[in-house]
Amino acid sequence: TSEIKVPRTIVLVGLMGAGKTCIGKRLAACLGTEFVDADAEIESAAGMSISEIFEVHGESGFRQGERRVIARLLRRPPHVMATGGGAFMNEKTRELIKRRAISVWLRADLDLLVRRTSRRSHRPLLRGRDHREVLGKLMEERHPVYAKADVVVDSADGPPEAMAEQVARAV
Ligand code: S3P
Repeated sequence: TSEIKVPRTIVLVGLMGAGKTCIGKRLAACLGTEFVDADAEIESAAGMSISEIFEVHGESGFRQGERRVIARLLRRPPHVMATGGGAFMNEKTRELIKRRAISVWLRADLDLLVRRTSRRSHRPLLRGRDHREVLGKLMEERHPVYAKADVVVDSADGPPEAMAEQVARAV
């Protein structure tokens, strides 16, 4: 694939298991630009895992840190960023993303999300819970908000490279 430098940062949003990190890495490679995982940046800034941040600071503490880290990342030169599933739900974070980046919702159906998160989860919102039930509720709550993204791409099974190319064509 030819190397096209991106004019603006591309931010991937969507539920846990939609493929944000996996597709984001391929998309960055395909566009010849840097890939950044906001969750990983939050963990390194805090010196703790996401689960530990939830335990120590609660979900609201995590959301505050998430907003600060994403705001900082959005000031970097254009790149591809994967965000945690809840980031775009936070109004302030969403406004920042909308202002400074192209947002892409990776939309996936419930079966796909359940399949992709089927292993024992490191994700605090899923751990020890019925994934289908939690993800089904989150879908109802979040899909209307994810729909505010600039671009929507249906995430499907299959090679992440193909999905990345689809996103590259859509932005
Ligand atoms: C969350 C999704 C996670 C992580 C945290 C909360 C959410 O990221 O930020 O566990 O609220 O949907 P992934 O979507 O990358 O799993």
